Amino acid sequence: MLEQIEFTTKNICEKTNNFKPHVGIILGTGLGGLVNEIAVEYTIPYNEIPNFPVSTVQGHSGKLIFGELGGKKVMAMQGRFHFYEGYNMQQITFPVRVMKALGVKTLVVSNASGGMNPKFEVGEIMIINDHINLFPTNPLIGKNIDELGPRFVDMGEAYKKSYVALGKKIAEENGIRVSEGVYAGLSGPCFETPAEYRYVWRIGADVVGMSTVPEVIVARHSGMDCFGISIVTDLGVEGVVQEVTHEEVQHIARMQEPKMTLIVKEFVKRL
Ligand code: HPA
Repeated sequence: MLEQIEFTTKNICEKTNNFKPHVGIILGTGLGGLVNEIAVEYTIPYNEIPNFPVSTVQGHSGKLIFGELGGKKVMAMQGRFHFYEGYNMQQITFPVRVMKALGVKTLVVSNASGGMNPKFEVGEIMIINDHINLFPTNPLIGKNIDELGPRFVDMGEAYKKSYVALGKKIAEENGIRVSEGVYAGLSGPCFETPAEYRYVWRIGADVVGMSTVPEVIVARHSGMDCFGISIVTDLGVEGVVQEVTHEEVQHIARMQEPKMTLIVKEFVKRL
């Protein structure tokens, strides 16, 4: 894997005139519009990046974007890779390894989720303060590559506390309602049964989704700090579990996109 990371990083450096990003952003559902705020310098489609998987899911195009946001050099993934698409954990998290190799210190991730916390509403913006890994595996399984990080990774502050505080402060200053809470990541692609929503709520999660956890694990392994933000696009609250569709998830996420964009843009600026 080391050679692959090196090869891909070198290839990207050649295509971007050695652009050195400080912040890496994974533009999940609801944050796609953030690209319009980036002063783009370079764009590379995933299919032109050696060793990068190609994104398949509807609503996610695949490009790496390099530019400036809020006075910071950033690289953004427009489109991410999901476990349910059939990629393995190493493929899903490979871009995070490359981010690290390019010099990224802070990883920003966004996603859509289903909310179990009865205080939440559809469209709720939740700053992720912790996660529960319910994927059937972990991206760090296998021989540890000591050059990339330690065998056993401390996950006590998977989402940096000062980042959570900063995100909440920015929201408050701008009159945006946000909550904070725990994200449970599981494989999908099914949405949860009522019993599964009940289960994830009882074990301590506020929302549930199908991404983010693998990337954050690898980011922590490689020593990056993480900020995560989630849009609750549907509710899995006991007694009010509604029907969920991909279209509805996209629709709600798009409605909340301006607020998510503002928070992340301002967050990057104040880092
Ligand atoms: N479950 C899992 N993933 C999701 C959901 C959900 O209810 N909503 C958006 N992504």
